[in-house]
Amino acid sequence: MRSLLFVPADDAKKLDKAMASGADALIVDLEDSIPTQGKANARLSAAAFIADAAKAAHRPRLLVRVNGFASGLCDADLDAVVPARPDAVMLPKAEGGADMVRADARLSAREAIAGLPDGCVKIVAIATETATALFLAGTYGGATGRLEGLTWGAEDLSAELGAEANRDGEGGFLDAYRLARALCLAAAAAARVQAIDTVTVDFRNAAALRRESEEARRDGFTGKMAIHPAQVPIINEVFTPSAAAVAQARAVVAAFEAHPGRGTLGIDGVMYDRPHLERARQLLTRAAAAGVA
Ligand code: COA
Ligand code: MG
Repeated sequence: MRSLLFVPADDAKKLDKAMASGADALIVDLEDSIPTQGKANARLSAAAFIADAAKAAHRPRLLVRVNGFASGLCDADLDAVVPARPDAVMLPKAEGGADMVRADARLSAREAIAGLPDGCVKIVAIATETATALFLAGTYGGATGRLEGLTWGAEDLSAELGAEANRDGEGGFLDAYRLARALCLAAAAAARVQAIDTVTVDFRNAAALRRESEEARRDGFTGKMAIHPAQVPIINEVFTPSAAAVAQARAVVAAFEAHPGRGTLGIDGVMYDRPHLERARQLLTRAAAAGVA
């Protein structure tokens, strides 16, 4: 998933528009964009939309962001949306592997009741929204086979830390949020799932979006969340592997295939070893998904 577009679950017009946005995934939101008194209606709207959108021939992946465990709203969210069979739920304010085990059990129960295959609803977790979560980022691996991605957020974390701001005067993230971002990357690599960059909230600023997307790709993120359809083409472009990157990855794979017994190889004067091979294969998989390999 290169681009994941948030859409408030209670906004039928935006849900329709999002389907045509070109995003690889939609995140139908039941959490921060829905006021407390609107949650019940939003659940119904989310379930109806997912059930309908899932039938479309060419469609984005369909995610639902539920409310976190501490909100007391999560169980009712899952009751409403799991029967519609979203591709995944996004769990905000997640606190490590123990929360993944809890989410897995809750999903399994709903899947069984709805007659769905066990494990069909995957999980993407927002791994840095509480202070506790930062210390548990390394505990996601092996907790559940449902986990397919980790992402990070600066807004809830800054509220919890009591910070006055999360960015400096030039728009760069301050230390605590750079740490959260780096922990998300390392946590995703350790758990062998996709690292997904956070949103750029300044949605009219295309230059900032492009810069943050390129920095994210450089550092190892393979996708980014969006809050506005205009952000989607830029994110897709940045996270689609370039022709040069595809050629390079093919060369690495071909070199290792030509020398099956070797753990380390030199290509054009540069050393490559097994992690590079793994990265090259992942890049080719992403390129194929994006239709450029
Ligand atoms: N998904 C689908 N369509 C969207 C959209 C989104 N996330 N954001 C905006 N649009 C639509 C608007 O409805 C509008 O449609 P129209 O031209 O048919 O009227 C068009 O895109 C242009 O929107 P624009 O006027 O530029 O923005 P806005 O002021 O209507 O909306 C936001 C701004 C931030 C409220 C809106 O982008 C939004 O709701 N984003 C998602 C918020 C969210 O889910 N947050 C939680 C995660 S952080
Ligand atoms: Mg939030």
